[in-house]
Amino acid sequence: AQTVERGEDGVVTVGGIGVTQLAEEYGTPAYVLDEADFRARARAWRTAFGTDADVFYAGKAFLSRAVVRWLNEEGLNLDVCSGGELATALSAGMPADRIAFHGNNKSPEEIERAVHAGVGRIVLDSFQEIVRVAHIAQSLGKRQRVQIRITVGVEAHTHEFIATAHEDQKFGIPLAGGHAAEAVRRALQLDGLELIGIHSHIGSQIFDMSGFEVAAHRVVGLLKDIRDEHGIELPEIDLGGGLGIAYTSDDDPREPHEIAKALTEIVTRECESAKLRTPRISVEPGRAIVGPTAFTLYEVGTVKPLDGLRTYVSVDGGMSDNIRTALYDAEYTVALVSRASDAEPMLVRVVGKHCESGDIVVKDAFLPGDLAPGDLIAVPATGAYCRSMASNYNHVLRPPVVAVREGEARVVVRRETEEDLLRLDVG
Ligand code: LLP
Repeated sequence: AQTVERGEDGVVTVGGIGVTQLAEEYGTPAYVLDEADFRARARAWRTAFGTDADVFYAGKAFLSRAVVRWLNEEGLNLDVCSGGELATALSAGMPADRIAFHGNNKSPEEIERAVHAGVGRIVLDSFQEIVRVAHIAQSLGKRQRVQIRITVGVEAHTHEFIATAHEDQKFGIPLAGGHAAEAVRRALQLDGLELIGIHSHIGSQIFDMSGFEVAAHRVVGLLKDIRDEHGIELPEIDLGGGLGIAYTSDDDPREPHEIAKALTEIVTRECESAKLRTPRISVEPGRAIVGPTAFTLYEVGTVKPLDGLRTYVSVDGGMSDNIRTALYDAEYTVALVSRASDAEPMLVRVVGKHCESGDIVVKDAFLPGDLAPGDLIAVPATGAYCRSMASNYNHVLRPPVVAVREGEARVVVRRETEEDLLRLDVG
């Protein structure tokens, strides 16, 4: 768990440092990332899956060079989905053979860079890409290890999933209609490719493991068809990411060892009944590793009570540092962290400073009735998909990521400056 504690004066400390000190030194808003917690979660995933499986951290959740180094040290692999993520991974020393390259429209330049660097696998997402990667690999005199991403007809959302015959989305090649089998046929014919496995990613913020069960059943079905048609058993299957975290107390996430046990059992059982050797399993958690390890620290700017409704609390960031509430109606909690208060709680909506009424950080929450400008409030569980989806809307500057560990703080991604903004504006 995060090393978060509240002192007698009500000031919250993380990694041994008080938030008031963090705000003073690094300003607000800021993402405060607990390095020990990040490493512990990464390690828990690694340990849970053991040496017969691979854990690829999904860099889209949050990527920086420090994170890449931590992952490298903790023995995790990395999933990247753009040239920018690949560049970050390589520049921080992640060995290329531990990188998987994803995306539904990788550019020829990105593919060339990935093949040239020697990435461990490229996850093929379309028929065009099968040919594209094969040609590029061949022209570089290489044989690229690839997986084919298929869609198995499982839509998983939080506590529910739907298993259908078809899936209406841009990623992957449909299993339905024999398309995935045809993709395998083509990939096996091309000299530039070494087909090592099948990939499936069923959704995000999932708690119900039965979606994975259906997915594994269908992926193994394809492996069996491949064996029957081509006489080969593909050695790997990747079940993607998507494991849920607790944003509010309603969410009850599973521990990595439970997830590992469940997934391994499902795949083993399916393979036994199909009389296949159990392939090496890999997974790609992003949110489940980094999500809970950071909170966003804001300073309250204005407090506006609206008669009979609620109190609007404006902070110095907003949808530019956390778009998830506006985009997905995501739920967060919030707490006063810079002092103690025994004032009656009031119903608040925490909003940002952007010119848009949908600029909401926390839709409904309770904060002490004496909340005032200058107070610091924290929104937990903002480690995943907040900094990585941050924008410059209204030319607001993106906050820094400050890593804390054992009483020391260190900026791992610095705050954007007006010079950064103006540097791009060359007109
Ligand atoms: N692997 C693949 C192929 C993916 O597409 C994703 C996420 C992951 C792994 C990691 O999923 P995770 O374990 O982090 O759920 N922006 C959204 C989430 C988009 C996820 C896209 N793909 C959000 O803020 O909730």
